[in-house]
Amino acid sequence: MTIRPATVSDAQAICDLINYYAERGRMLHRSLESVYQSLRDFLVMEDRDEIVACVATELFWADLAEVRSLAVAPHARGKGLGTKLIRKAVAVAQKLGVHRLFALTYEKEFFARLGFEVIDRDKLPEKVWRACIYCPKADDCDETAMILRILSRSGKKPLPLQRKPKRTRKRTKVPRTRKKK
Ligand SMILES: CC(C)(COP(=O)(O)OP(=O)(O)OC[C@H]1O[C@@H](n2cnc3c(N)ncnc32)[C@H](O)[C@@H]1OP(=O)(O)O)[C@@H](O)C(=O)NCCC(=O)NCCS
Repeated sequence: MTIRPATVSDAQAICDLINYYAERGRMLHRSLESVYQSLRDFLVMEDRDEIVACVATELFWADLAEVRSLAVAPHARGKGLGTKLIRKAVAVAQKLGVHRLFALTYEKEFFARLGFEVIDRDKLPEKVWRACIYCPKADDCDETAMILRILSRSGKKPLPLQRKPKRTRKRTKVPRTRKKK
């Protein structure tokens, strides 16, 4: 069993896996086109030439990424694959220098076991919700927002969540006055 970045030849298998659960109301449906578009975000788990699980890590801002499209093939569930993939996604985020990883999920207990905490969804920036326009439950979303705070390798603490990028004020140069002797 190996975990590796997805390649174009995995796109159809990823799409089938996600849509298997989408048809059962457990995940958001994804088109093959959207999988290709975000293929570089995906990790897959391969077992003897079969894609048995996938996950994507999408970067939103300097301090925020989403772990999404996590799916384990029905026959491979409950064997720790989901846990392994999330750990790998955390490592990817950490390597990028991102200190917060969030998920919108129905699998609250699964994510809680991995250290994710429930947060007020309104604290997430608006751009997070752009995929919701494609969701049939858009106005009646019942997913739980959960977040994991990741310490950087240097042990730096995550910054507070920012809804909007900080506005940088133009610094006006104040001429230094020389001290009179
Ligand atoms: C949720 C999912 C990713 C979990 O993956 P998995 O490989 O089956 O989970 P693991 O084997 O790593 O489980 C880890 C632990 O969580 C528990 N767990 C897994 N799914 C759980 C659930 N739905 N509710 C409560 N506990 C759960 C397991 O019992 C296991 O506990 P243990 O360590 O005490 O044995 C997988 O079941 C799945 O693909 N579900 C359908 C798609 C989905 O909902 N994806 C999430 C989208 S955000």
